[in-house]
Amino acid sequence: MLTVVRPPVSASAPGKVNLHLGVDGLRGDGYHELTTVFCALSLRDTVTVSTSDTLRVTVSGEGAEQIPTDHTNLVWKAAEMVAEACGAYPGVALHIDKNIPVAGGMAGGSADGAAALFACNEYFHAGLERQTLLDMALELGSDVPFCVMGGSALGHGRGEQLLPVLHRTTLHWVLAIAHRGLSTPAVFREYDRLAARPHAHTTNPPIGSPDVLLQALAGGDLPTIAATLGNDLQAAALSLYPELRYTLRAGQEAGALAGLVSGSGPTCAFLCEDANSALAVSAELAGAGVCRMVRTASGPVPGVTVEEQAN
Ligand code: C5P
Repeated sequence: MLTVVRPPVSASAPGKVNLHLGVDGLRGDGYHELTTVFCALSLRDTVTVSTSDTLRVTVSGEGAEQIPTDHTNLVWKAAEMVAEACGAYPGVALHIDKNIPVAGGMAGGSADGAAALFACNEYFHAGLERQTLLDMALELGSDVPFCVMGGSALGHGRGEQLLPVLHRTTLHWVLAIAHRGLSTPAVFREYDRLAARPHAHTTNPPIGSPDVLLQALAGGDLPTIAATLGNDLQAAALSLYPELRYTLRAGQEAGALAGLVSGSGPTCAFLCEDANSALAVSAELAGAGVCRMVRTASGPVPGVTVEEQAN
């Protein structure tokens, strides 16, 4: 097959935190019905597509050595999907520059898939419609459509039925990155196990509706946002990784307004008053020895962004 040499294309996509993650039940297809409020964060991964004889993946940045570089990586699948849709040979090298914590419940792998779809669409001159790319995004994973969209959104279904949310204030976060990762399917399985126990509703009451949170986001009411953050998967993540309790407590003691496990964990996200407070909380948390690494981030930020090509 003749490989066409084209200029490289890069795209970036954000990680996320779920301000609200309500699990509404297990579906027949093995997925859980969710009601969630996503917020895209200023930690972004970048995927660069360039010419190669065969499809290959390389990774740099934090945790790069833990990332598969074969067909199981979402960027590999994304390149194959776009190439197939436009009849191109997938002769591309995909380089991922990681900035989003790996296996942390912050949609790092999903952001890479989202960035790869858009970078490949540009690289191959595929001209695919945004909706086609969003359909491919959902095929890659439940969080990938949100990484495409960015901003803040209310998600239903697997989390992919997205409605933009009015969000009047920038939220400042400290992220405590744990010593090891948690597998998303394992956390959902633990959720099901805990939910099947007698009195589960009183031990771990469901977080309920996100209406008050949505109103607070629209009004920029930070104390109410802090008071209404919630995650139905948190008890399952804590059950599989009990040390996270110390991390959550340390973040509160360091002066955060609120803290919660991000998505399926184990990253703990702490909402802070402002950027200065986030810096102070991050310094304190780093000194407390309750996590592997501390980062600050803000949001909402835009979704997938294809970088201008230098001519
Ligand atoms: O869609 P994605 O591949 O990211 O999901 C990974 C796994 O997480 C699924 O196979 C499923 O076990 C679990 N999951 C779920 N319900 C969701 C999203 C994910 O049970 N809404």
